[in-house]
Amino acid sequence: MYIKSLTLEGYRNLEISELFPSKGINVICGDNAQGKTNLVECIWLFTGGRSFRGAKDSELIAFNGKAAKVKAVFDAAGREQTIEINIRASRRTAILNDVPKNYMSQIIGVFCAVIFSPNHLTLIKNGPEERRNFTDSAICQIKPSYAHLLAKYRRVLNERNALLKDIPRHRELEDTLDIWNERLAHEGAMITYERLRYIAQLSQAAEKFYDGISDGKEQLKITYKTAVPNDLRSDQENIKTFLLERLRRKQNDDIYCGFTTSGVHRDDMTVKINGRDAKSFGSQGQQRSAVLALKLAEAEILGEAKGEKPVILLDDVLSELDASRKNYLLNKLNDRQVFITCCESSVRSENIIWIKNGKISASEEFDIVSSCGK
Ligand SMILES: Nc1ncnc2c1ncn2[C@@H]1O[C@H](COP(=O)(O)OP(=O)(O)OP(=O)(O)O)[C@@H](O)[C@H]1O
Ligand SMILES: [Mg+2]
Repeated sequence: MYIKSLTLEGYRNLEISELFPSKGINVICGDNAQGKTNLVECIWLFTGGRSFRGAKDSELIAFNGKAAKVKAVFDAAGREQTIEINIRASRRTAILNDVPKNYMSQIIGVFCAVIFSPNHLTLIKNGPEERRNFTDSAICQIKPSYAHLLAKYRRVLNERNALLKDIPRHRELEDTLDIWNERLAHEGAMITYERLRYIAQLSQAAEKFYDGISDGKEQLKITYKTAVPNDLRSDQENIKTFLLERLRRKQNDDIYCGFTTSGVHRDDMTVKINGRDAKSFGSQGQQRSAVLALKLAEAEILGEAKGEKPVILLDDVLSELDASRKNYLLNKLNDRQVFITCCESSVRSENIIWIKNGKISASEEFDIVSSCGK
């Protein structure tokens, strides 16, 4: 999957322009506050998602402007497709292959991209919830029915938690708890099974990318952190039996606490570099490299499921990385389309998109039309 052309009008500080990115690595280069992240953010919108910076639609429109229009012509599913997005202060609408769509959700899945921004470092720095969310949303992208499974688990968990709070005042309710134990163990086993399978794939791909980024000097290891013993993990029924037995064993603790103290909602994904926990012992550069490897691995698995590689958007990834790691990102991922922002004017790449004060221009080999004022 790759973008053939991109047209911008009235988007943040970017001047009206049309650009024709390369099929491989595109380096977006410029000083601070010139519009590099704005351009990456604009490309991300074609996935149908919200701004990855959490911006409101009105904030995407140029100061003093009333509307913005961005259009991408891209190759996906073996044919040329177009998405035009019209942004107004109150609303964002899209036109997919000349068919108007009222809701952005109607274009999700047509143009696929994976984004890395420094905000994603929380994937390592923060607690388990961040890593569970990453895993769960990655599985949802390749298996939409997984979202229903998660919602069902959440409902059963809420019911069980409500009951746990009531039991101290109504002891007779304790007899009904085992129905919820059974259901929670059932859904929990399915979730555990899916996460184990996904993380095994993710781990393999992420380790390969990390090996490339660190030039073979360091090793990344990703594992799913669950109480389910290794020898039971390959069978859903065995997982369920284990989870059920544990819920029953911890039932009194749960009643005392008033919530469910064990289960897949407490699981984690461990990220280790050279055998040590990346969160506690990883340097800034190592943590950045690990998140990057995870993101690239996510894209790889999504690409295998969809039959084509998603576009990779890397915003502000190069700071804190040494020359060899930078070189890997700037040169070694050329079998897919990558947009990578960079502040260094000394960067060497065939395809550089220069941005100065919102004006987009390109290196000589690169075909670009900047039609300021047209
Ligand atoms: N709606 C808007 N209209 C006009 N300008 C905007 C709008 N939103 C943001 N800007 C301006 O865009 C400029 C560039 O922002 P951007 O985040 O893209 O910079 P950058 O090139 O990524 O810089 P850095 O290297 O520091 O990350 C900022 O100075 C900001 O004030
Ligand atoms: Mg930026």
